[in-house]
Amino acid sequence: MILNFGSINIDNVYQVLRFPNAGETISAKGLKKVLGGKGINQTIAAQRAGAAIFHIGHVGEDEWILDQLSKMGVDKKFIYSGAGVTGHAIIYVNLEGENEIVLHAGANEEFKHEKCDEILDEFIDEKPWVILQNEINLSLEIAIKAKQLGFKVCYSAAPFSAESINKILPYVDLLAMNETEMKELQNSSDKNVVDFGVAMTLVTLGSRGAELYIHGEVIKQSSFDIKPVDTTGAGDTFLGSFIARYDCGESVKSALQYASGAAAIQITRMGAAPAIPTYNQVEEFLNEKVQ
Ligand code: RIB
Repeated sequence: MILNFGSINIDNVYQVLRFPNAGETISAKGLKKVLGGKGINQTIAAQRAGAAIFHIGHVGEDEWILDQLSKMGVDKKFIYSGAGVTGHAIIYVNLEGENEIVLHAGANEEFKHEKCDEILDEFIDEKPWVILQNEINLSLEIAIKAKQLGFKVCYSAAPFSAESINKILPYVDLLAMNETEMKELQNSSDKNVVDFGVAMTLVTLGSRGAELYIHGEVIKQSSFDIKPVDTTGAGDTFLGSFIARYDCGESVKSALQYASGAAAIQITRMGAAPAIPTYNQVEEFLNEKVQ
């Protein structure tokens, strides 16, 4: 069982030949409006990988986003609509599939202390994993309460903030970062990745795969040789898939391989959440690619 207290965004994706320079105006070659947000991307990846997961999130009064969540099969029991705008992102995707993202948090910062405590208390018997990212308010408070209840906490250090991560780290069981975030954390704390004091640290390395630091050991997962169309949400897909398969009882090695397959398929499609593959699609891909 997993609870994801996570962001939900409208991603406005502009396809560009290259990124604009400061002060420059360029024309986009295409525009897509899709469901995104690190939180909901992770939830959909985990759900498609077979996990029992509830997403706890806030949106504006926005039929489009609620409709998208329904289409993706997200249970809306803990999705709250209120005044204010739904979180959104302006995303540029270039010809190499790389992106640049500007976020507006909007309703993602509408989490209320009492309500979060109430939801956590409801799952006391299940002792679920709790997933958090740095795209919502109250991450630290939720992590502290979750640990008090004996739950396990997974934290994505994105968007990166040295201050937030250093505060939350003592309550985290699985820390997830990309390579840039790991370097920023190492520089800001003067510690090596193995010295963060976290049970598991997952570092995604893009086309070079991923590494999982666990009990003083590092397990490496290579990536598949794929030409990316859009890498937005690849890290979220990797993490959501990994935690789902691990929570379902698979070994870390097998969960890492599944996550790598899911991310490889996801980057061949435009958009974040809608690009996340189903369990069967990932299994078919792995049967073909892994000897
Ligand atoms: O990780 C990708 C996500 O980051 C996008 O979907 C965007 O909404 C931002 O949250």
